[in-house]
Amino acid sequence: MKILVLGGTAWLGYTVAKTALTSGYEVTCLARGDAVPSGVRLVRADRDDDTALTGVAAEHWDAVIDVARQPIHVRRAVRDLQGLADRYVFVSTCNVYASQEEVGADEDAPRLPPLEADRISPPDDYGPAKVACEDAVLEAYGPDRTAIARAGLIGGPGDPSERTTYWVRRFANPSNEAGAVLVQDTPELPTALIDVRDLATWLLHLAEEKSSGIFNAVGNPVRFPEHIEIARSVAHHAGPVVTASEDWLLAQGVNPWSGKRSLPLWLADHAWYGMNARANTRAVAAGLTLRPLRDTLTDILAQEPPLTSAENRGAGLTDAEENNLLNELHLGGFSGEN
Ligand SMILES: NC(=O)c1ccc[n+]([C@@H]2O[C@H](COP(=O)([O-])OP(=O)(O)OC[C@H]3O[C@@H](n4cnc5c(N)ncnc54)[C@H](OP(=O)(O)O)[C@@H]3O)[C@@H](O)[C@H]2O)c1
Repeated sequence: MKILVLGGTAWLGYTVAKTALTSGYEVTCLARGDAVPSGVRLVRADRDDDTALTGVAAEHWDAVIDVARQPIHVRRAVRDLQGLADRYVFVSTCNVYASQEEVGADEDAPRLPPLEADRISPPDDYGPAKVACEDAVLEAYGPDRTAIARAGLIGGPGDPSERTTYWVRRFANPSNEAGAVLVQDTPELPTALIDVRDLATWLLHLAEEKSSGIFNAVGNPVRFPEHIEIARSVAHHAGPVVTASEDWLLAQGVNPWSGKRSLPLWLADHAWYGMNARANTRAVAAGLTLRPLRDTLTDILAQEPPLTSAENRGAGLTDAEENNLLNELHLGGFSGEN
């Protein structure tokens, strides 16, 4: 198979390109940067330019796999590749949905309105921009030649956001001698991650099988305490787990979900619980195979560097932040529950 990856220099696109190479496909990536897997043909181009696809728009492709976030990039790609590429696999997101409240919602749930503007959109427009991207692909390629994978939280070794790597690494590297780890008290919080390698393999499977459709490409949901127990078991953590209420953490300026001074995976707004618990039945029926969470966390621990006290963490608490919070909670004595 001859595959064109629009992207390939960042986490998912790179993994797709590498997996495709391993499977014996002929792989070309188009991006501005050059950090593609060795063995891939790279066409350097900036999709902000109207003529960006010139270097790939004179040959036949069995499938295009596109990770774009900008509708204008997708409109140009489908315009230039429509007669040349047989199928279009577009990586979308569950952020296209109008509501994140319902647990177990499927792909028929209403979407946000599409971003109308043909301009480069800021990150705040992410959901509406992806809706417009989906529409552009479907309009040009039609439902029979299009596969749209609405990814949920992508996880695994190499996660640049560190949202999915924090907890197992934190349990393996507690910030204090007592081995205490601070977690938010969210017994009902659903978490779900799809391993980047499983997603990459399945995107190529969709191309190979000429599958079409719209799919939630999401992991199987597990409640946060279960995620924590698996992470502790993988990390052989036997220290105290100190729980703090959501209100207290918010009052201390701890951020939910991601970024600095955060507790990753925490959704403080319970109206967003459905985001991590969408139905993946259609994707599984279309060949998505999900490895157990334990395997993903084991690989994270084996492949990621240990947590350090560095301040420039992508997500989570630094050692100092966690210790200060633990001291506030327990006045220096980590007598947390297990
Ligand atoms: N991470 C998650 O948990 C999550 C959840 C849901 C959905 N998703 C979706 O999953 C995908 C992730 O893709 P990814 O990891 O490969 O990362 P990404 O950060 O979305 O990468 C964007 C890719 O597009 C290329 N690109 C961006 N602007 C470009 C331009 N002007 N011209 C040419 N190329 C350009 C980048 O390459 P250069 O910068 O080198 O040009 C890069 O390879 C995205 O579609 C995202 O929306 C992610």
